[in-house]
Amino acid sequence: MNDMAEKPQLLKVVDLTKDYSTRSGVHVTALPGVSMTLEDGEFVSVVGPSGCGKTTLLKILAGIIQPTSGQVLYRGRHITGAQRGMGVVFQSPVLMPWLKIIDNVLLPAKVIGLDRTAARATAMELLELVGLGGFENKYPFELSGGMQQRASIVRSLVHDPAILLMDEPFGALDALTREHMNVELQRIWLSRRKTVFFITHSISEAVYLSDRVLVMSARPGRFIRDLRISFPRPRDYDCTATAEFGDYVKQIRQLLVRHEDHNS
Ligand SMILES: Nc1ncnc2c1ncn2[C@@H]1O[C@H](COP(=O)(O)OP(=O)(O)OP(=O)(O)O)[C@@H](O)[C@H]1O
Ligand SMILES: [Mg+2]
Repeated sequence: MNDMAEKPQLLKVVDLTKDYSTRSGVHVTALPGVSMTLEDGEFVSVVGPSGCGKTTLLKILAGIIQPTSGQVLYRGRHITGAQRGMGVVFQSPVLMPWLKIIDNVLLPAKVIGLDRTAARATAMELLELVGLGGFENKYPFELSGGMQQRASIVRSLVHDPAILLMDEPFGALDALTREHMNVELQRIWLSRRKTVFFITHSISEAVYLSDRVLVMSARPGRFIRDLRISFPRPRDYDCTATAEFGDYVKQIRQLLVRHEDHNS
């Protein structure tokens, strides 16, 4: 609790619940009342079984959907809608096929009315940073899936959000590209110091990238562990082969398996 007092809380979620009602009138409790905090500059991952409510939580944080009850505080203020200080990356790149990469990347900046020249300069710099320099005038179909996802990440960063919300951004990539993206994301994070809320199904990806890993139970999802990952930064990908790394992975895996058993 003490180290929480040292850093300002950027985002705080208090007792959040979400019930969905389906067309047949059945209520589904996706979140039963979850609380968590994100401190300024932290990289926090969430792992949990499919359907436990991770995307629901991210959509509430992003202001895309409303919670049934509970509060979201951003820099100490209650929020209910989408925030300018947030960038969102979804599992699939969702680029507009008819727009060039540069125009896709500049779309949010255009929507919120940022100065085009300045936004363009930032976009070009970021494209360079993720290895897409020279691809700005290509169309999405001319890029591989991994390149499109990198373009989506750039798009989420152009307006310089304080928080990056990422929902399984690398889920569709092959193992090596994913590894490469992990290293790249850490590099972006280290150079731009965003607060990142990162959802993944890969335990090792969560451990490699995060300061903290939040483990969720099966639906309705609750946080069952908040695990601090103490590897120093920058992390070489080789740290994933160490015994300490293996211990973290094992711990999280066991929590998920144990919990699955309880629910079956
Ligand atoms: N719009 C909706 N209407 C009704 N039920 C929904 C809706 N969206 C999600 N749900 C239900 O809420 C629960 C949580 O869904 P959510 O998408 O948040 O899970 P998730 O943890 O992101 O899963 P996954 O890992 O598969 O992406 C699921 O049982 C799902 O069926
Ligand atoms: Mg999801």
